[in-house]
Amino acid sequence: MKDLMGKHAVVTGAGSGLGRAIACGLAASGARLTLLDLDADGLAGTARLADQAAAAIQASVDVTDAAAIGQALIRATEIHGPIGVVINCAGIIVRQGFVESDAAVWRKVFDVNVIGYVNVLQGALPFMEEGASVVQVASSSGHRGGHGYASYSASKGAVLALTRHLAGELVPRQIRVNSISPGPAVTGLNRDVFASADAVRSISDAVPLGRIGAPEDVVGAAIFLAGPQSRYVTGIDIPVDGGLTSQIRLGTTASAYLAFRAET
Ligand SMILES: NC(=O)c1ccc[n+]([C@@H]2O[C@H](COP(=O)([O-])OP(=O)(O)OC[C@H]3O[C@@H](n4cnc5c(N)ncnc54)[C@H](O)[C@@H]3O)[C@@H](O)[C@H]2O)c1
Repeated sequence: MKDLMGKHAVVTGAGSGLGRAIACGLAASGARLTLLDLDADGLAGTARLADQAAAAIQASVDVTDAAAIGQALIRATEIHGPIGVVINCAGIIVRQGFVESDAAVWRKVFDVNVIGYVNVLQGALPFMEEGASVVQVASSSGHRGGHGYASYSASKGAVLALTRHLAGELVPRQIRVNSISPGPAVTGLNRDVFASADAVRSISDAVPLGRIGAPEDVVGAAIFLAGPQSRYVTGIDIPVDGGLTSQIRLGTTASAYLAFRAET
């Protein structure tokens, strides 16, 4: 479906992982891309994969730098016109327990994961058309407890709250604001964790659908929220996590499935 034909879509964190997969999905739906990330080579790779090597606007910028983001979006709008879609996806994690993580760690994580999203939205809003859509990439970590990355979980909880609040504030402009909450997926963010077979096994066992996610798993929900099929949807979160934050009680469910799969 070419639901986003001709729409100008801005994607942050577009140089790898989930942002790259979403950018490719938007391009396949007809969108014209503006790709933002620190990683210039990553951006070029995404533009190629999205079949927009020449057409996509690529800006190597830091989302914590509001002025640079503002400049990049002014330039993007001059070329691609008013913005129809914003995907806020650039993010970092610091794997440190609550007691060990000092204020510098909290500031670093919140600067990218929360203020970065704010900078992009404030830079984009003056150029967003009526009926535009914002999709914020939150996380299952914003919904449930864990250990070893409290600053990350809290930053994603803030993204969920920001999403709900902004959805209300932007009603007069008919701009919809929603989020997706991916579960664990193998990307640059956590490749080190998933290098261990034990970690892969134990995390897969905790997911009702019995496996770790892939970047491509989040694309359908992101495109749905970005496009006209969700025109009556705002202020919500879609967990895309294999059932991790659902009310499914694992019990034998996942292990039974895995045993069945091993036998067949
Ligand atoms: N991978 C997972 O398991 C998972 C789960 C839930 C949510 N998420 C979220 O998905 C989003 C994308 O992460 P990913 O998993 O694709 O990881 P990733 O590391 O592959 O991608 C993150 C991208 O953000 C960019 N980035 C980081 N800091 C930046 C900054 N200051 N300015 C501009 N760009 C910056 C990086 O260069 C990178 O390309 C993040 O918001 C992350 O929290 C990931």
